[in-house]
Amino acid sequence: MLDKTKKDWWKDAVLYQIYPKSFQDTNDDGIGDLPGITQNLDYLERLGIDGIWLSPICSSPQEDNGYDISDYRSIDPMFGTMTDFEELVSEARSRGISIIMDLVLNHTSDQHEWFKDARKSRDNPYHDYYIWRDGEEGILPNDLPAVFGGPVWHWVPEVGQYYYAGFSPYQPDLNWENPAVRRELYDMIRFWIGKGVEGFRLDAIAHISKDVDNGVWMNGKDLHPYLKELRREAFPEDGIMTVGEAGLEGLDSVRSYTDGSELDMVFEFSIHHYGGYDRWKNEKPPVSALRDYFTFWQQNLHENGWNALFLENHDLPRIVSRWGSEAPHQKESAKMLAALFLGLEGTPFIYQGSELGMTNLRLPLDEYVDLAVKSEYAKGLELGYSEEEAIEIVQAQNRDNARTPMQWNTEPNAGFTKGVPWLPVNPNFQEINAEAEMADPDSVFNFYRQLIALRKELPVFRTGEFTPLQRDSATVLAYRRDSADGHLLIACNMTEDSQPFDVPADFADADLIAANYPDAEGALRPFETRIMHFTDQ
Ligand code: GLC
Ligand code: CA
Repeated sequence: MLDKTKKDWWKDAVLYQIYPKSFQDTNDDGIGDLPGITQNLDYLERLGIDGIWLSPICSSPQEDNGYDISDYRSIDPMFGTMTDFEELVSEARSRGISIIMDLVLNHTSDQHEWFKDARKSRDNPYHDYYIWRDGEEGILPNDLPAVFGGPVWHWVPEVGQYYYAGFSPYQPDLNWENPAVRRELYDMIRFWIGKGVEGFRLDAIAHISKDVDNGVWMNGKDLHPYLKELRREAFPEDGIMTVGEAGLEGLDSVRSYTDGSELDMVFEFSIHHYGGYDRWKNEKPPVSALRDYFTFWQQNLHENGWNALFLENHDLPRIVSRWGSEAPHQKESAKMLAALFLGLEGTPFIYQGSELGMTNLRLPLDEYVDLAVKSEYAKGLELGYSEEEAIEIVQAQNRDNARTPMQWNTEPNAGFTKGVPWLPVNPNFQEINAEAEMADPDSVFNFYRQLIALRKELPVFRTGEFTPLQRDSATVLAYRRDSADGHLLIACNMTEDSQPFDVPADFADADLIAANYPDAEGALRPFETRIMHFTDQ
């Protein structure tokens, strides 16, 4: 167990993201719940993780699956009760697992009491909790687009004003310029710390400061002052881990987030632009782009910041489908991607099901639930793609790919529910499921488990400086990590063909500590990975 009293415990941790709606249903309503998480803590303990980031579990009309909160201090009944939550926290703790909550501080649900009051009249005390502009019905204050399609402005006749909602109309943005709003949020965070929460993931945090009249919809001038105040007021104590959703901003910005006065780390997601956030680039990123990305962040944050590592989350399609192979190399490529990511410096966040090698699920568009699917499809047509092309791209890129139910066993619905699952289960659960993989020493699950154990055993995983190898290769992504603690080499064939690989001379007698083929000689076979290690003594 990690010593969580250590200030930087999270630097030694491996964390795991749970999307509660899709993890495990215990009352047959087809929706995952908190008792379903508590029930599977032994599974997570076996995997070897030190903390769970829970996607939002507070009361919500679920227009955006909980990223639209209507009451920050209660558990949504579909997930269970506050008692269920307290039980989860204490059961997790007894296994050395911390609970990390998702804080959605940029916006609330339009069903939050604050917003219901805010829209009643201009002199309501809550009116100024949100962002309003005068205007005339039908003539928008400006033409800023919302993340999930349509305009950011929405007319409320009672007050004769527009409110601002940067994501969807159901998610009005809070007015961070109002100190009363900030106070409410800090108090709310203290409430959850009081319940035993040991860390927070800060949703869409770059959006809290903006200048909407001048086209600035994120990264406004007060962002860093707000975050400094947030740290001071809401989590001044050491040991509360914080990670911001704040990529795409360059080194200076990431450094200012993580210089010790704001957050501990941020999710930097520019690499996921290839076929990720830019859903229209439906292609694998070139190996050179991946190498540049990892080299840049690994080298620049070494001893000067800290990386939050991830390949998947609830907003991204499955990595095996994106950068690996669904068939015939699902298993090899899932393991190779695990090695690529778990070999890096930083705190890894494993998204539920990655440890099984779960893949995307293609559905007819009307079977997807995510509110972004409709607007993405419309955008595709607008951009000039044919209907077939737009469907294919949305199928490959939409967020529900990551949200299909967790695959536990070979029972109906993969053992996720005895009811009707809220989103279809991927039919490949007959082969890809936790029960089968736990029993198979050669499974993706046991490879993750092995790598997590190695990270804890060998300090060079924490301290080694990153150097890319075979820099000109368009097919092999390889790197070494060196420190006084030892030397690591991680080689990954990113393709389905054999590729040459030159082992650096000083690794000639190194130990092969992990691999995804039974032997490790000569060229790298399809999606092969090898991890080698030696120490100077
Ligand atoms: C973040 C979340 C995403 C959500 C959005 C709005 O990007 O990860 O799931 O839809 O914020 O809250
Ligand atoms: Ca349920």
